[in-house]
Amino acid sequence: MARDSQNISLRILGIESSCDETAAAVVEDASKVLSSVVASQFATHGKYGGVVPELASREHLRAIVPVVTLALEQAGVGYGGLAAVAVTSGPGLVGSLLVGMTYAKALCFAHSLPFIGVNHIEGHIHAVYLEARERGEPVEHPALALVASGGHTHLFEAREGFHYRLLGKTRDDAAGEAFDKVAKLLGFGYPGGPIIDSLAPHGNPRAVRFTLARMKGNVLDFSFSGLKTAVLRWTQQRDMAAEVDARRELLRSNAHPSVEQWLAVTPKATLDLLASFQWTVIEELLRRAVACAEQIQARSLIVAGGVACNSGLRAAAQALRLPYPVHFPSPGLSTDNAAMIAAAAFPKLERGEFSDYTLAARANLSLA
Ligand code: KG4
Ligand code: ZN
Repeated sequence: MARDSQNISLRILGIESSCDETAAAVVEDASKVLSSVVASQFATHGKYGGVVPELASREHLRAIVPVVTLALEQAGVGYGGLAAVAVTSGPGLVGSLLVGMTYAKALCFAHSLPFIGVNHIEGHIHAVYLEARERGEPVEHPALALVASGGHTHLFEAREGFHYRLLGKTRDDAAGEAFDKVAKLLGFGYPGGPIIDSLAPHGNPRAVRFTLARMKGNVLDFSFSGLKTAVLRWTQQRDMAAEVDARRELLRSNAHPSVEQWLAVTPKATLDLLASFQWTVIEELLRRAVACAEQIQARSLIVAGGVACNSGLRAAAQALRLPYPVHFPSPGLSTDNAAMIAAAAFPKLERGEFSDYTLAARANLSLA
């Protein structure tokens, strides 16, 4: 990232509160994470098996000031050392977004700093740009970006200058949402993705043959609701009440069971189901992403969002030996964080694209 004529480092404070993580980070020159603080609300939402919007807003209100203060402290930066404050303005839960937005606006007003609204989905993509710059290996364009998280499953063409074109998206559930719903159905905790990820290697991914979704219209769109229903049918054909109860009981006594503890209450047939479910999600994601990358003659593939943490997905992408590099963010920058929001604000800072205080939080903000 170019700097000003005196080669002075630019630092942006990023704030993220779109869902169930309150996060703040300071990023320098779009390439160096000076601090990244994430306060997760798993303990609050875990018992409901998903995010409860009202509780999320309340938790953000509690966390926002200490999280931002800690991020600045850890970065060793005061407000005078910032070039701007960036905040997620959408998409997400409006009540949650409003907490970060209002606090960011107040900080900018009080400290006379530029205010920059950032699209959360663009933030996920910038997690990859940020680390690629840090490594000194910038992402080559055009790139195909697959963003797969709890709220989104999108395919974008990303061109030089951070221009995006939407090529495909889920028509129903997001990939991460499918992980979370299947985990909830089977009595595992929330979020379901990391738990299924850690148990899938203990099952046979070929044991249950799920059909891959066939899309009418845009063949690059995704659908995960059929898979979720197929898992539900599989469970209805078996008597699983006792094992599901055993897992719920385990969760009541221990909020974070170890893999061994989960394995002790999960029969082989269920492990096979989890492995097969995960294998099918990975197949859906990669099949369409690769087809899309070919279509735009991509010179790199970006995989971002919480589901990019999935070790099976990372291994499967590697195993494809694609003729272009595949970029995953490190796990801490794959799930929601504020470093990605600060990183996405750097091109806007360079172009002088500031937001004004009338910018509203938008639940359905689209990227392209
Ligand atoms: O990006 P993120 O933190 O929040 C949204 O923008 O939605 O993604 C959270 C989602 C959750 O659905 C979670 O289950 C999923 O990412 N996730 C995973 C893994 N880690 C998190 N899914 C599969 N495998 C994982 N290891
Ligand atoms: Zn996200």
